[in-house]
Amino acid sequence: MCGIVGYVGESQAAPILLEGLEKLEYRGYDSAGIAVYDGKKINMKKAMGRLKVLNELTHGGELLPGKLGIGHTRWATHGAPSDINAHPHFNKDQSIVVVHNGIIENYLKLKHRLESKGYEFVSETDTEVIAHLLDYYYDRDPLEAITKVMHRMEGSYALGIIFADHPEEMYAVRKDSPLIVGHTKDGSIIASDVPAVLKYTRDVVFIQNEEIVKLTEDKLEFYNIDEEVIEKETTHIDWDVNAAEKGGYEHFMLKEMYEQPKAILDTFSPRIKGNEVVIDELGMSDDEIRAVKKIMIVACGSAYHAGVTGKYIFEGLTRIPVEVDTASEFRYRDPIIEDGTLLIVISQSGETADSLAAIREAHAKGGKVLGIVNVVGSSIAREADNVMYTWAGPEIAVATTKAYSCQLIAEYLLAMKFAHVRGKISDAELADMIEDMKELPAQVEMLLNNKKNIQKFANRYLAAKDIFYIGRGIDYAIAMEGSLKMKEISYVHSDAYAAGELKHGTISLVEDGTLVTAILTQENLYKKMISNMEEVKTRGAFVMAVTNVDNTEVERNADYVMYIPKTNKYFTNTLAIIPLQLFGYYVAVGKGCDVDKPRNLAKSVTVE
Ligand code: F6R
Repeated sequence: MCGIVGYVGESQAAPILLEGLEKLEYRGYDSAGIAVYDGKKINMKKAMGRLKVLNELTHGGELLPGKLGIGHTRWATHGAPSDINAHPHFNKDQSIVVVHNGIIENYLKLKHRLESKGYEFVSETDTEVIAHLLDYYYDRDPLEAITKVMHRMEGSYALGIIFADHPEEMYAVRKDSPLIVGHTKDGSIIASDVPAVLKYTRDVVFIQNEEIVKLTEDKLEFYNIDEEVIEKETTHIDWDVNAAEKGGYEHFMLKEMYEQPKAILDTFSPRIKGNEVVIDELGMSDDEIRAVKKIMIVACGSAYHAGVTGKYIFEGLTRIPVEVDTASEFRYRDPIIEDGTLLIVISQSGETADSLAAIREAHAKGGKVLGIVNVVGSSIAREADNVMYTWAGPEIAVATTKAYSCQLIAEYLLAMKFAHVRGKISDAELADMIEDMKELPAQVEMLLNNKKNIQKFANRYLAAKDIFYIGRGIDYAIAMEGSLKMKEISYVHSDAYAAGELKHGTISLVEDGTLVTAILTQENLYKKMISNMEEVKTRGAFVMAVTNVDNTEVERNADYVMYIPKTNKYFTNTLAIIPLQLFGYYVAVGKGCDVDKPRNLAKSVTVE
């Protein structure tokens, strides 16, 4: 996720770009840059760090005069945050300049082709490929060059493009990354999102996939990928700036929950090639994968819960023994890291102090570390031996949702890869799993759309004292995450238990009306779970069940049921967590809690 803006018109472009970028900083903030055409050539300034660094560098835009420009605020994907990797990116003679939001999945192949034709690259980004590819196809017809490039690119993109020999025009194009355009009082503007343009216009056009816009001072012209003119409708936006930042959602947390289908897709799609799982960044040959004797997963909080899910999945699919530790405890047990041990550290921020310490402990003992990390260039990404990035984009709400979901996906992919290489699943089984994985984004979307019912149910529990979450096997892992989502934002005490454990003590807390949330997604455990539900029900509990759509039998033993669609038995956590996220969210909203910034918590925990 990154933010792009662009302006062409009668005003000075740079201040408009900087202002727009400020409103898009929530989309990425590791570096920023702008490029402005000054009447003769394109000038560019970019800088690592928050936008204020760029603001100072350009004296609020004064140092880049001109009425045509594009800008970018970056959330690194390919290439760590740095001045060089910051956007915009030029072609070789600096006559074409590009800003990009998205991921070009086949950029390495394109880069090698371009290098063989003499193109030289200065950055590590996928975006620079676009600038050079435009250069390669450019024959004084911008539209033609753009459509040719679109045919060559795989992945997602929203682009703003300037051609120095077309100084009255700006071009923008999109596929699977958001893009809007509109008119200001004296020009035309593009942006990744509404907040960047609200000061100038409330009438915008939402660009759809594979559509191209040519913007001039007073005109917007729309084309499809065949260069045919198309008509587009204008939408009037009546959100205030605050709501616009959250995409019209009440909180960042809700917005981020709704971003899960795309985040999940972005995390798996570059790693699925036909019927194969390809994880280039793994840095392990098939022989090395076959040599793994033990996996240790280390993480904190929700990332730890993703790790607990990982244990069931890795062991189930690969038969490699897995240990899971909270990072804060890992080093105190003097962990045994022998030859053949693979340590996986999971972290959204990449800055969690305890998880970093775990990497250092592993390295001191000669271990090899794979990071599953969301923030490119973060400390954990730098210190791990190899990094598999989750492509969730920046997460603003303190309580994680989309990053957690992407951590699960990364683990599924790894486990599938390992299981296949080690001969534990056949080609056909892998192909089936891949098919099921491809269904997940739409299934998550469907579950999110049930939010009204969950809100109604949640409103009954605003005064709850305790809520318990129970599950067995892989569902125990989801119980832990569901419980954390409830307590951290709503301040209702809740706890997760392996369902069979309740009767060894905690059941004494169950009284008339206590809510017990039972998760049963594993068919082989239905019967046992039903017994545990009966145990609490006879003691007065109100039982809410989260189960598979075909398990209607459960209605006999539960007071309320939330169904999830059918998927592979190893992927159920991805679906079961959605109603539980919504449940925690709506209890917190109903109680008037500060959902995005719960008391006492920080997004990134950099102390041990
Ligand atoms: C809970 C939550 C935290 C984090 C934990 C680890 O919603 O977000 O429990 O999962 O602090 O943080 P990262 O993943 O940044 O290492």
